[in-house]
Amino acid sequence: MGKDTLTITDNRTGKTYEIPIQYGTYPTYGASIRTADLRQIKVSEGDFGLMGYDPAFMNTASCKSTITFIDGERGILRYRGYPIEQLAERSTFLETAYLILHGELPTRKQLDEWTYHITHHTMIHENIKKFMDGFHYDAHPMGILVGTVGALSTFYPDAKDIRDPADRKQQIFRLIAKMPTLAAFAYRHSLGMPYAYPDNDLSYAGNFLNMLFKKTELKYKPDPVLEKALDVLFVLHVDHEQNCSANAMRSVGSSHVDPYSAVAAATAALYGPLHGGANEAVLRMLREIGSKEKIPEFIKKVKTREALLMGFGHRIYKNYDPRARIIREIARQVFTVTGPNPLLDIAIELERIALEDEFFVTRRLYPNVDFYSGIIYEAMGFPVDIYPVLFAIGRTPGWLAQWQEMLTDPDQKIARPRQVYTGSDHRDYVPIELRR
Ligand code: CMC
Repeated sequence: MGKDTLTITDNRTGKTYEIPIQYGTYPTYGASIRTADLRQIKVSEGDFGLMGYDPAFMNTASCKSTITFIDGERGILRYRGYPIEQLAERSTFLETAYLILHGELPTRKQLDEWTYHITHHTMIHENIKKFMDGFHYDAHPMGILVGTVGALSTFYPDAKDIRDPADRKQQIFRLIAKMPTLAAFAYRHSLGMPYAYPDNDLSYAGNFLNMLFKKTELKYKPDPVLEKALDVLFVLHVDHEQNCSANAMRSVGSSHVDPYSAVAAATAALYGPLHGGANEAVLRMLREIGSKEKIPEFIKKVKTREALLMGFGHRIYKNYDPRARIIREIARQVFTVTGPNPLLDIAIELERIALEDEFFVTRRLYPNVDFYSGIIYEAMGFPVDIYPVLFAIGRTPGWLAQWQEMLTDPDQKIARPRQVYTGSDHRDYVPIELRR
């Protein structure tokens, strides 16, 4: 084995530089150099020095992290070292949320305390309902969520004290607890139904179903299969390392704004159809395709770039997304309760055709987490536009873990990328009467 350094020769000057290579947990995955080390590479003394140019962070690590590991080539996802398959099968959303935020699985006592605190912060200030009422009846619930979660910062001015660990903990309880309440209220607003208040006797997922679907019954009883399925879906969404919304959370949080404002920014990032909005887009796409016979016609449109096959492709996974595999199995369980969904047949056939087609094979496009989740949500009775909201609820502990790690990392500062300027050189102002 040679030295852990990189030798670079600048052919403009003939000078040679030696730059250290650093490693993470795995020597073969994630070796990196500090791009700041490139700044010493200059043509002349006054030269700014070399930068890395990497639009969309295609090959730039923005942080060191101990939270989530993904090997996209092999389709591996682990939270704090634990494989997603084991957590989906044996853990619960609240236990996984604890794990992702604390780094270790809780003891029984720690889990009970954690669950107690989350359960007892689910209420929202009555004034929030007044904001909700101000939204138009057909307002997208994700737009309502972005607005109302950001507005929470005005109710908790103490949240500005982001350097105090006890204070951060309080906001973490509140955010994980209140996201489902905001989401459910947004949904009921769109139906013109009275808001249903949290029920502390129910589980996290069970209470969410209660706030969404409770009608005149005195006590809402969630179907245990659907409650479990929703809990597992939340587990699968908890974190996914430096994706678009986690990056938004870190970037906005790096200005030291309160976490409600940063979560609003992360939620806004998640709203887009290339990110958390994809589950909604998948369902609309499947409905548009309508029948198995129409699939070849749709695939043709994808190949001529008139459409995207939503729920396919991933920046990191160049293999089957492990979450998609688990979700396919949950779909089977859910349909034993809700009855079969014809869209599932279209999705399975679409996947079969795409996985054999040269266009998708050569680009290594596989189903991602959003491909099957929408079909389950539909079977469970969720309206299409609430799907990204479900993603946001599951992802909140991950955002908070990323935020906390960023705040406590001595390497981190306010996020401020460089740019390569390609505009005009200096020029003098021209009075309007002299302009052509
Ligand atoms: N349908 C058709 N072609 C695709 C798709 C797709 N879904 N995804 C990628 N491609 C093509 C793309 O056109 C490009 O082809 P070419 O090299 O000929 O120009 C090639 O595959 C590489 O794609 P890319 O756009 O460079 O990849 P990216 O890493 O920038 O984008 C992505 C990743 C997820 C935004 C993209 O795959 C996509 O738009 N997928 C559909 C939306 C989707 O399902 N999003 C959910 C992502 S998973 C959950 C989450 O993160 O929220």
